[in-house]
Amino acid sequence: MEFRVKRAPRIEAEMTVPGDKSISHRAAIIAALSNGVCVLRGFLPSDDCMKTVQALRVLGIKIEHPEPDMLVVHGKKRLLTAPSAEIDCGNSATTMRLLAGLLAGQSFDSRLVGGATLSARPMGRVIVPLRKMGANIVAEGPNETAPVKIHGVKLKGGRHDLPIASAQVKSALLLAGLFAKGKTTVHEPAVSRNHTELMLNYFLVRTVREEDDSTSIFGDQVPESRDFLIPGDISSAAFWLVAAGAQPGGHLLVRRTGLNDTRTALLGVLIRMGAQVREAIEDVDQIEPRGTVEVTGAPLKGTVIQGKEIPQLIDELPILAVAGALASGTTIIRHAQELRVKETDRIAAIAHNLRAMGAQVVELDDGLEIHGRAELRGARVASFGDHRIAMAFAVAGMFADGETIVQDVECVRESYPGFEKALDEFVSSKRARLTTPVISSLTPSKAAEE
Ligand code: S3P
Repeated sequence: MEFRVKRAPRIEAEMTVPGDKSISHRAAIIAALSNGVCVLRGFLPSDDCMKTVQALRVLGIKIEHPEPDMLVVHGKKRLLTAPSAEIDCGNSATTMRLLAGLLAGQSFDSRLVGGATLSARPMGRVIVPLRKMGANIVAEGPNETAPVKIHGVKLKGGRHDLPIASAQVKSALLLAGLFAKGKTTVHEPAVSRNHTELMLNYFLVRTVREEDDSTSIFGDQVPESRDFLIPGDISSAAFWLVAAGAQPGGHLLVRRTGLNDTRTALLGVLIRMGAQVREAIEDVDQIEPRGTVEVTGAPLKGTVIQGKEIPQLIDELPILAVAGALASGTTIIRHAQELRVKETDRIAAIAHNLRAMGAQVVELDDGLEIHGRAELRGARVASFGDHRIAMAFAVAGMFADGETIVQDVECVRESYPGFEKALDEFVSSKRARLTTPVISSLTPSKAAEE
């Protein structure tokens, strides 16, 4: 399957996006450990999240799926049963890494296998700290890659000082900590998304934010069953927010999206680049902030994206690189070496595709230097089997002369079912035009005030 994209007309739209991928994984896992029935609404039924659901079913958890975005999870009070087969994580690293933590402390053995892109991704980062807790876990592939074989043992707590900021590793250790003796503490070099901590607290599991910003969890707690409403995925909204932001006069409202501040660094970058961005948190009842983002487009200018900002927009870097190509001046992305071990080497993939579309790009070890305001020209580009590369270059096609063909886009289903439909509507301008003016209750974002 491929996307064929032409230059888009002016954006004037209002939309919602499907549920947050990271939160969907965590809600399903923690609900499965709880002491009763949990109804999860807003669940993302993407390939990745369904791998987590399937895995939990293999571990003996009954999960009903009455509507595409609704799960009914029958928690079994931390009681998981030995899987009768190996657990297929597809291409979902979140599934594999979080489950590695969850399964290390069970009283049974398990084996996690993955598809082609996942089988090339590093698992040592989760295996090494789990071994410190006493885990008996090995990566069977070359260079610490999947399959991951786990011999369940009783774990012991302890402190972990992570060398990289990774929410997947942090979450794996917190889940392992739930089944470990004593206290498990995780310290990361920069703040990564905190959905696991929030979700545990929502299910009344006690975690402690220590003075040095590390997070601790105590073993032997049972999550209290609760219902949860998962907000829209800001990482999916990002594609359209950048599209509207890069189009002078473009205007977009994304409603009911997650606005957790460990995920919204993208908005600050768009503001730095010259777009007008406002966010309004409308609901925090269920711990994860949810609300509206409004973007008004402008001629963008280049910026520098680096340091502690990186973990908070790591998934948005492909689309921000496209924004850089559309901006005047130079955009520099640094300290983003993690991009090299995502679904593909995203630094190489972005450089390859942007060059194919006529942009001038320098590939750095840990990022990119993009010389912007190129007249992008339509080209045939590759997804490299990576959903976010596919979607970022579909948006690039909305700004290019001629036709852009993005090849092998099936991978988009991993995080954003419905992307193609939204793309069609933006490109063909079928979307209903907004009749309401800018919402007056919107408050300027923190970044805008600084
Ligand atoms: C995720 C964490 C990030 C992110 C990924 C989802 C999560 O990965 O890139 O898409 O749900 O915890 P890392 O933990 O490898 O940084």
